[in-house]
Amino acid sequence: MTHKLAFIGFGVVGQGLAEILYSKRQSLKDAEGFESKIVAISDFKKGSLYHPDGLDFEALLEAVQDGGTLDSYPKADGLITGWDSLETIRKSNADTVIEVSYTDVSTGQPAIDHCRAAFESGKNVVMTNKGPVALAYQELSALAKKHGVSWGFEGTVMSGTPALRMPKLTLAGNDITEIRGILNGTTNFMLMRMDEGASYEAALKEAQALGYAEADPTSDVEGLDARYKIVILAQHVMGMPLTVEQVECTGISQLTPELIEQARMEGRRWKLIATAKKENGIITAKVAAEKVPLDDPLASVSGALNAITYQTDLLGPVTLSGAGAGKAETGFSLLIDLLTIARARETVQS
Ligand code: HSE
Repeated sequence: MTHKLAFIGFGVVGQGLAEILYSKRQSLKDAEGFESKIVAISDFKKGSLYHPDGLDFEALLEAVQDGGTLDSYPKADGLITGWDSLETIRKSNADTVIEVSYTDVSTGQPAIDHCRAAFESGKNVVMTNKGPVALAYQELSALAKKHGVSWGFEGTVMSGTPALRMPKLTLAGNDITEIRGILNGTTNFMLMRMDEGASYEAALKEAQALGYAEADPTSDVEGLDARYKIVILAQHVMGMPLTVEQVECTGISQLTPELIEQARMEGRRWKLIATAKKENGIITAKVAAEKVPLDDPLASVSGALNAITYQTDLLGPVTLSGAGAGKAETGFSLLIDLLTIARARETVQS
């Protein structure tokens, strides 16, 4: 059965997914039996399109990549334009909403309202916006369950690297008592460059030029981005309620060349580490720069890479490392959420 998709937002990440769905359409069909069509796109800057029979992948990508909007998409019988995001979610015939709207992470909006509208109209959601998961995990999980739909958000932590799915699926049965991770690529890249002798300002400029940093890099350098991610991990992977305000948070802006040199002399390396620890049923979490000994697997994670060590009762420490950002990498996170939904649907039907 062809999976019908509605994109809410069509920026870099949304286009990343669309490109993968198009370029891998044959192998996804052959290997996974997965077929999809985009029935709707609603982007507050680029415009909106809906056709119940599906839009043309190539024409969509061409319109956006040439003109920056959907205005030049060819008009066809049955094509509806101008629907806003909530109309698109409620009125389209999509099975799944790809929620990649421009969202304020501190309020989670408008993405939280998009999830509510989708679940209430019987649609699955896959998303990369961190705000809704960090701020409204309990409410949205319960709402999705009540309406019998799925909610995927692998890309909120470490893009497509399976930071959420791996512990939930392949470490199931373990008690995960501690999570320690390098969850922000910008600061990890900056620390590497500062270790190599670059100034804080030059390292930040370089990270921005390479597209790692958030639009407002304060969120990266003060540890706020990592704080949202550790809240998601604590709730989803450790099953512990945790709010953003409960996480002590400092960043890397206080690190001077002297402190970096001192760590080197001690055989250690500064890393921005997000930690969540469960003891006697109580969770504590923090984000802070730490001098990590060189034999810790996190010490050798360099550049914009991310990594997490899960402390498990049956296996001991398990460390996962991989990409934390990027167009294809985050586009892939949405793909694996979609494939998971499609596989579950197959199982139910067979
Ligand atoms: N600015 C973030 C980072 C992007 O540097 O990791 C991914 O959330």
